[in-house]
Amino acid sequence: MNLLDQLRGTTSAGERPVALYRSPDHSVYWVGSQEDTPFRCNAYLIVSGDVRILFDPGSKMHHFEQVKARVATVVPPESVTHIVLHHQDPDLCDSIPDWLAVATNATLVCTPRCRVLLPYYGFSHDVPWLDVSPNDNTVLELPNGKCLAFVTSPFLHFPEACVTFDETSGFLLSSDIGAAIENEWRLVVEDWDAHWKTMVPFHVFYMASNRALRGFIDKIQPFPIKAILPQHGSIIPEAHVHSAWAQLRELPCGIDLLYPASNLEAAMKQLNR
Ligand SMILES: [Fe+2]
Ligand SMILES: [Fe+2]
Repeated sequence: MNLLDQLRGTTSAGERPVALYRSPDHSVYWVGSQEDTPFRCNAYLIVSGDVRILFDPGSKMHHFEQVKARVATVVPPESVTHIVLHHQDPDLCDSIPDWLAVATNATLVCTPRCRVLLPYYGFSHDVPWLDVSPNDNTVLELPNGKCLAFVTSPFLHFPEACVTFDETSGFLLSSDIGAAIENEWRLVVEDWDAHWKTMVPFHVFYMASNRALRGFIDKIQPFPIKAILPQHGSIIPEAHVHSAWAQLRELPCGIDLLYPASNLEAAMKQLNR
């Protein structure tokens, strides 16, 4: 059962995890951090039988203890079986060594170009890995017969970033795509127009280009998405998913906004008429 409607108006999660979806064999939790910054980070946990998947767990100093404490109220942290790293940034990866010390058998899930970089956070490359293929055919089969599908999101914003679609809940764990920088955080978006204004600066600065955004949106839109769960900012419920894709599709960002035609170029064009 999708619980997002019941969570409208949530502005503080206290020290508890928040169940976002719950069924007898599959649950999705927000296990992120209370932070006094608009750049606050969301981590998520999926518990599907004996498969326990942690997504984008955060940094060592700012997130690890909080996230671990929230996970511990749901399952023993050492029982985490997979840690999904959607890209290589420290705000989601810096705690990997701490998590590997706790969940000693966990498999790290990321793209190959991300895998090259992650050991530099301070752990041996000799750990279990699941490579997310750029062919977009990597899945993790779950005990309930459904799967997690891993889909690459090139240059959004890492060259080989990825996202996860949870077939059971219909949730898209989108990492930095759909993220927002909010002064007043809410767990779930309520006022779409106001929220969009907090998404624009993030995407303009971090996403590579409108071409990259459009390509990804065209690839992901056919999925039956019931909510977008970003790594920063509020969760976008189904009612606003269409608006999110439609408006991101039209947003110039990244290199679209660099090096506009200079005055000299404009002048040359005039001369060559
Ligand atoms: Fe990032
Ligand atoms: Fe991020």
